[in-house]
This record gives sequence, C-alpha cells and structure tokens, in this order.
Amino acid sequence: MKEILRLDFRNMLRDTVGRHGATPAELQKPGRQALRYLQELKEERSNGQHQFLDLPYQKEVAEKIKKLADELRSWMTDFVVLGIGGSALGNIALHQALNPPYHSQEGKSRGVLRYAPTPRIHVIDTIDPDLFAGLLETLDLKQTVFNVISKSGATVETVAQFLIVKEMLKKSLGNAYTKHIITTTDPEDGALRRLAAKEGYEKLCIPKGVGGRYSVLSPVGLLSAAVSGIDINALLAGAAEMDLQCQKETVEENPAVLGACLQYLSYKKGKHITVLMPYSAALKAVGEWFCQLWAESLGKKFSVKGKIIHCGPTPVKAVGPTDQHSQLQLYMEGPFDKVITFLAVDKFKSRVKIPLSPETDFEYLSGHTLAGLMEAERRGTELALTQAGRPNYTIYLPEITAFHVGGLLYMFQVQTALAGKLFGINPFDQPGVEAGKVNTFALLGRKGYKVGATE
Ligand code: PA5
Repeated sequence: MKEILRLDFRNMLRDTVGRHGATPAELQKPGRQALRYLQELKEERSNGQHQFLDLPYQKEVAEKIKKLADELRSWMTDFVVLGIGGSALGNIALHQALNPPYHSQEGKSRGVLRYAPTPRIHVIDTIDPDLFAGLLETLDLKQTVFNVISKSGATVETVAQFLIVKEMLKKSLGNAYTKHIITTTDPEDGALRRLAAKEGYEKLCIPKGVGGRYSVLSPVGLLSAAVSGIDINALLAGAAEMDLQCQKETVEENPAVLGACLQYLSYKKGKHITVLMPYSAALKAVGEWFCQLWAESLGKKFSVKGKIIHCGPTPVKAVGPTDQHSQLQLYMEGPFDKVITFLAVDKFKSRVKIPLSPETDFEYLSGHTLAGLMEAERRGTELALTQAGRPNYTIYLPEITAFHVGGLLYMFQVQTALAGKLFGINPFDQPGVEAGKVNTFALLGRKGYKVGATE
C-alpha cells in the first residue's frame, strides 16, 4: 500500500501541550462515536447515499473526459472555467497543486515562449467586472473553450458570466460558437441543462447525489485538470486508495476518523477556530478549498433533530512561512481558541540550494536547501506553538503528486462527513447560502422571489 499521508497528533495531547491538550481518556469518547458513525456512513453509502465517496471509481467518465481533453488540446490555447463555490474551488486547488506555478501565466498569446504544451487554465469564480473584462481581453476566442459549471444551473454569478460569454462568442464566431461551450451540470434538471440540450453544447454531468463542495473528483474538477495535463487516473487512484484507508476501523489507522475526532474535541474544548496552514505554495488553494468544505458543511443553525444549536468551527487559511510574519503572533499569544493543522511536504519537486556565503552572519544558511529551510521554519513554528500551549497537529504528504492530492482531498471530505455526524448536523445542505441566493434574485427583480422569503 502506497503511503498517501501521515498524521502526527502528539502536540494535541495534554502530556505535550499542557492543559489545552486532550487526555487519552477525553479522546476515547469521540473516537468510539466516530467509529460508530463510520459504520453508519458505510451503511448509508451501500444504500446509495453519499455518492461523492464513489467518485474515484468512475472509470468510464474518466475515459470520456480524457478523450474530450485530448481533442480540445489539439486546437485550444485557453480553457476558462466559469463557476463559483464548489464549482470552482476544487479546480483552483488542483491546478495550483499539480501544475507548474506559472503554467497559466505564460502563453503564446502573450508572445512568451511556453514551457508547457498545454492550454492555459483560468478559473473565474467572481463577477468582478474589471477582472472579468480583463481576462476576456487576453483571450483569442477562436482558441478558447468555456466550461460553465453549475450543479443547480441557476447560480446568478455563473449565469451572468455565461450570458456575457455566449453573446461574445456568437458575435465573433457565428454558429460555430457552440463548440466553445461545455456545460457541467445536473444530469436531468436545471435551466443550464435544458439550454445545453437545445443549443447542442457538449454536456458533462455532476452525479445527482454529489453536492458542489464534494464534487472536485467528478467532471467538475476532472475536465479542467485533464485539459491542463494532470493525470486524472492517478488523482482518482489516490482517492480510491484513501477510500480504503478511511474504512479502517481503528481511530489511529483511519486519518479521517482521527482528524474528525481531533477537530470535534478541540471545538468542545473551546477551540472554535481551526487553522489550516500548508507549508507549500502549491497547497495554498487546497487550504481555500478546505475552508469552504468545512465552513459550508458544518456551520449550521439546526441539529439533525431540529434543535437550534448554531454550531460550527470557523476555518482560517494560512500559509507557511508567509503567515509566520503575520497571523502567527495571534496564534502564539492571542486567545486559546484555535487548533492549528500543518500540512507538510516531505519532498518538493525542485531542489534549490542556498550557496555558500562568505558573510559570517549568513554562514548558518550555507549549504541548506530552500526545502530544508521551509521544514526548519515549520518545525520551529510547531515547537513554539507547542511550548506556548497551543494544540496543533501535522499532516505529512510524501510529495505533491496527483495520487497524493487525490488522497488528501478525499480524506478531508470523509473527515467533514464524519465531523458533521459528531456535531449532529447535516453536512450536505447549505440553507444559509441558499438564503443569500434567494435574496439576490429578489433584489434583481426575478419573478417569484421575495427578500427574506427563506426566513
Ligand atoms: O457547495 C455548494 O453546494 C456551493 O458552494 C455551490 O457549489 C455554489 O453555491 C455554486 O452552486 P452551483 O454549482 O449550483 O452553481
């Protein structure tokens, strides 16, 4: 079995971190509960629920996507994802983690020599007019494909983007414009689905039972990944491997159960803020993706029993070492209301050595690598937090490959589902987000919508 990740939680324990840490006895109760919930999750899965858990096994879908991606890559220079929330953040996380850092900044269209023979990828999860217009100006429409992603097919930001792009394409390309739009949406319902069928766009489906923030391993995330050259088979293989690990029935062996317990217990002990701090620029957007997954899934007014509980940990994204020079001061000396999760990488792709320095003040750096410096900083921060009595734990990734990232994302999704059960809430709905959507429709004068109608 190939290692996907290791989780070291010693700094969560009272023996190591002092009174804000957990005793082994305290960990036992949520541990037992989480294992019971794991059984529940397995049963629900075998009854057809939680289809996100089965996404790693969609061989035919992956084949279709790879074929489509190959065809697109033969004529396209730019691939633009139009979507928001769960229809965008997974794409951004995959590209940032797995493509060369400047992959989408360089391209023929800017007169710069490309080093990757794959299209530039743009994920536009905003309707900021300057950003949107700015992007459109850089594109050669004849060589651009727009992937409109929306589960509901109705999200206002995505619909607005789509309408603008559709008109532009039609004006510039005439009837050929349909070849430049691909929709990824519900297999049966929604206005986008109907329009795609009517106009003849290429259509991909988000399986019925898969919600936005659990959809990164569905066609939502897979198409732009495949187009950019990410090995989506490896991504799914990592997730499948993690699926096996997340079925293990002991707390220590199952990273999703362990993570859910640590987070839940921390919350119960007053640590209402959870910080995810990757020491890797490539994993920064995984932190952003995680924040949405955690916040939208766990922040709930009602328990599953209908009781008002207003529960939910607040996720915060940080990145090392950058935030050592910003947020860390608060984590070290501010209120004892946080638990910090480090994401560490054993082996970076590049080896950058710091040269020997004749200046004695800098001698200590000589011969080290940037990766070594990064890990020394992470260890230094971890130690300082532990000494200051701040609970923290570390998830180690052996390296950042499609296999490992697929596994990591899968693990976080299972952890979230289990945390939902521990908190006694439904981690798969988002009534708060829906309320905002309804109000926006009402303010824009959409028929049948009233401000505050969801209250
Ligand atoms: O996770 C979710 O359900 C949300 O964040 C949605 O992804 C987001 O609101 C966009 O919705 P849709 O995909 O329907 O356009």
